[in-house]
Amino acid sequence: MRFILLQLVVTACWAAWAARANGPVPSTHGQVVSAHPLASQAGLQILQAGGNAIDAAVATGLALAVVHPAAGNLGGGGFMVLALKDGRATTLDFRETAPAAARAGMYLGADGQLVPSSNHEGFRAVGIPGTIAGFDLALRRYGVKSWSEVTQPAVRLAREGIPLTPALAQEFAQLQADWRRNPAAAAIFLKPDGSTFAAGELWRQPDLARTLTRLQNKGRDGFYRGPVARALAAAMKDHGGLITTRDLATYAAIERAPLRGNYRGWEILSMPPPSSGGTALIEMLNILERHDLSALGHNSAPYLHLLTETMRRAFADRARFLGDPEANPSLSATVARLTSKEHAARLDRTIRPDAAAVSDPIRLNEAYESPETTHYSVIDAAGNAVVVTYTLENSYGARVVPDGLGFLLNNEMGDFNPQPGRTDATGLIGTSPNLIRPGRRMLSSMSPTIVRRDGQPVLLVGSPGGRTIINTVLQVILNTVDFRMDLSTAVAAPRLHHQWLPDELVLESLTAGQPVPWPRVELERLGHRVRLGGAQGRVMAIQRLPGQEGYLGAADPRDPDAAAAGY
Ligand code: DON
Repeated sequence: MRFILLQLVVTACWAAWAARANGPVPSTHGQVVSAHPLASQAGLQILQAGGNAIDAAVATGLALAVVHPAAGNLGGGGFMVLALKDGRATTLDFRETAPAAARAGMYLGADGQLVPSSNHEGFRAVGIPGTIAGFDLALRRYGVKSWSEVTQPAVRLAREGIPLTPALAQEFAQLQADWRRNPAAAAIFLKPDGSTFAAGELWRQPDLARTLTRLQNKGRDGFYRGPVARALAAAMKDHGGLITTRDLATYAAIERAPLRGNYRGWEILSMPPPSSGGTALIEMLNILERHDLSALGHNSAPYLHLLTETMRRAFADRARFLGDPEANPSLSATVARLTSKEHAARLDRTIRPDAAAVSDPIRLNEAYESPETTHYSVIDAAGNAVVVTYTLENSYGARVVPDGLGFLLNNEMGDFNPQPGRTDATGLIGTSPNLIRPGRRMLSSMSPTIVRRDGQPVLLVGSPGGRTIINTVLQVILNTVDFRMDLSTAVAAPRLHHQWLPDELVLESLTAGQPVPWPRVELERLGHRVRLGGAQGRVMAIQRLPGQEGYLGAADPRDPDAAAAGY
């Protein structure tokens, strides 16, 4: 009876929030936008209990690990960008690292070629998780609440259960073959008799609740030391993985200065390496600033051509130069050069208005002279702004769970360049800055970004989508700044992607279920190889309207479960 009642309450609650999903949600005090209404609500609950945006971001992140297991995580990693009410800005890097036993050629076969998918599958593809160390650093340096308080909503959601949304039930069922290969995962995502869950059924995660309780009592050490660390290392040993208790005990999150850009007077704060996001984003904005985009017209052929050529060049630089800053000593000077207005001017001069360039895997930019992650945004009444993108890499990561711990492990090792020296037209990249080395962080595209105007955060934005993330964030910023779209329109507008290699321009095929009227023929005439693709990214954004009090939150209509929550 107690459970039926509980289910009714949770379902009613979910329905209330779901009803608000995707629309612009106005609020005067604070706002959380995430991939699940109950996670947004978890953050909101902490804000209303006197927590700041940092506390709420940690609570939302922990709740997403319960209600959005495709990407919300304890077993993955990510980045947080903070713009504080006093004007300071900073970032936290909690990207996974390669275990001490990892080697550059560890995914190659006897023939020296990459064993297909081996860098993305099972326990050997797991990087040392960083999420809990990142959340711990955030709380200690910038939060006002304790581990014991910020874990409360997540513990309750895991212990008491949530009603499965149709999207979640469908995902669990689609992956049942994966679950059956790993009994600890099957114990979570399938019923005890091996059958699949239906939408609306109550889904409880007692093992995860226990792990979260350890965090509640012991904070960071509840994960990186003691029973959780030992069980994780034991699972690694049993299944051919590399992570040891020593790897876990020595993992550290790192605070880094944000990357700063200036786009038409708007200040861009984004993630430095080991993400490529901020660098490529600012490089692209600098090139585009040299053009009158609104005069070209939103998603017109000349606009799309310019955007594509800009993306091609920034992604070539990404492949050539970017990786873990600790392993690439001159990287900060390189990033300063790549994000300079001079570099943008030089690249811009190589863009022909009448013809597409050709992506060349050998010559990179010398030729021109030179599905799953999750993002959420949080802002509080004092104006502290926090954006977090974190991930397990693929949807549901490596799709393996260490016995008894209740959480999925990432397959982030797949973000390293797997085959040293091999860069080819398929998009395989083998450049040295991002090769596997023990302790190294793999290059990311995650781009949590805050835009400020006159020192005030006016746009909080980010998205999942692998390499498409950077281009998604770019287009939401352009839609807002150049085309003055309201936030919901800016987030919903159809997007494109080009990543240098493979040399193809990918256009979203549908918008709101209807075909997008792209100027495909004109683009092909300019020499672009055009392909229609599926939905690009899932943006969770918050906007502060200049001269007005309060905030507007927008969850991407591409995500059926996403929701903004404000008060
Ligand atoms: O760090 C990165 O760039 C990737 N591991 C992100 C993966 C991702 O976004 C997949 N999502 N759809």
